[in-house]
Amino acid sequence: MSSFGDPAEFLASLDFDKKLAHYDIRGSMAWAQALFKADVLSNDELKTIVNGLDTITEELNQGTFPFRIELEDIHFNIERRLIELIGPLGGKLHSGRSRNDQIATDTRLFCKDAINNILVLLKRLQKTLVDKAESNIDVILPGYTHLQRAQPVLLAHHLLSYFEMAERDVDRFNRAFDRVNVLPLGSAALSGTPYTIDRESLAKELGFENISMNSMDAVSDRDFVTDIEFAASMTMVHLSRLSEEIILWSSEEFGYAIAGEAYTSGSSIMPQKRNPDIAELIRGKVGRVAGSLISTLVTLKGLPLAYNRDLQEDKEPLFDAVKTVEDSLDMMAGMVASLEFNKDRMNANAQDGFLLATEIADYLTRKGVPFRESHGVVKALFAKIIEDGVTLYDLDIDYYKAFSPYFEEDIKSISSESAIAARDVVGATSKLQVKRRINEARSGFKDDEKR
Ligand code: ARG
Repeated sequence: MSSFGDPAEFLASLDFDKKLAHYDIRGSMAWAQALFKADVLSNDELKTIVNGLDTITEELNQGTFPFRIELEDIHFNIERRLIELIGPLGGKLHSGRSRNDQIATDTRLFCKDAINNILVLLKRLQKTLVDKAESNIDVILPGYTHLQRAQPVLLAHHLLSYFEMAERDVDRFNRAFDRVNVLPLGSAALSGTPYTIDRESLAKELGFENISMNSMDAVSDRDFVTDIEFAASMTMVHLSRLSEEIILWSSEEFGYAIAGEAYTSGSSIMPQKRNPDIAELIRGKVGRVAGSLISTLVTLKGLPLAYNRDLQEDKEPLFDAVKTVEDSLDMMAGMVASLEFNKDRMNANAQDGFLLATEIADYLTRKGVPFRESHGVVKALFAKIIEDGVTLYDLDIDYYKAFSPYFEEDIKSISSESAIAARDVVGATSKLQVKRRINEARSGFKDDEKR
């Protein structure tokens, strides 16, 4: 080790905050207007600044903007360029504001767009799930607990579980949006701007619903970042659970489903394999998104008021979490749309007589036997079935009656289909209930379109 590293390089955030360039310009445009209304800028000065900012936007769009790492961050880069383009007047734009309220504003503007985009992607995944559920409304499979076959359910019911999870994710992102929707600009470095800035109209100009009520809090609050990171983490956990099902289902042991060719990869040495790599990657990416949440929480912990440079560490995890959840939602929707189900296999497994144990106990209970007793009867019945090496479908009525006098001929009409149809309360797996939920989901999508 010969010489020390460059502290200026360590400080620089340009590599990642250049992503905020357009938000920074939007904030500056609005700030210039506000300065004009507060008589800090003349009409001519305002026009010149706006033209300069337009030129910078143009340069950014053309890819000709001269990013300079030695200018530390996106704010200094844009300010320096403005001064180069319009002269010392460019330096007036920073009157009464600070990079502290500027970065808080830029980050919030970014978050609003990010949330809106994530919501669109979540809803597209929901639609895909509902489509799949509807087009497979007659398919049944075993439902599992402890990954042991438990009771028969509709495949549509199983798929719609993930619709419900996504519904809560949508709600979480909407709430996060409300908390992001607060303008910090006008807080300046920490104690507020000394000019008579109309913050309400500034908020309106930038599309914020509310304005911050405490300048010291406003420049150091990053709660909204953790809100998004939590919502993203929870969404990823849900996507990971669905990924896990797809991975299990595409194993030879289950053989229930296979994702489209584009979503699977061949093995380099075993030609017979189609690995569910996309699902595995989505499952694997939960770590970095949950990590972003932890990273930001730890950064915030113990910070004294007001702005501290630690806060610069919020951006990389935020950007990474947003991009990861966006990409994963996009991939998952495509993969779900591509899923092909082995309906015969699912159906065959759902005919396993053991899945009807609960239904048979319920049968006795409907005839007046206390459930705890029915449970014992059915346990003994199935022990005998195993001992005799027969299946439920081989039994005659006397076989049943040896275990309880309450068994009658109608026991033979019990089937996976009848067990599913019997579960007909709101939220249960009967076809009626599942179809009702599909219709509700569809009218929800229509309401979204109207908005
Ligand atoms: N790059 C900084 C950040 O991301 C911008 C604000 C810097 N403010 C300051 N007083 N050094 O937080």
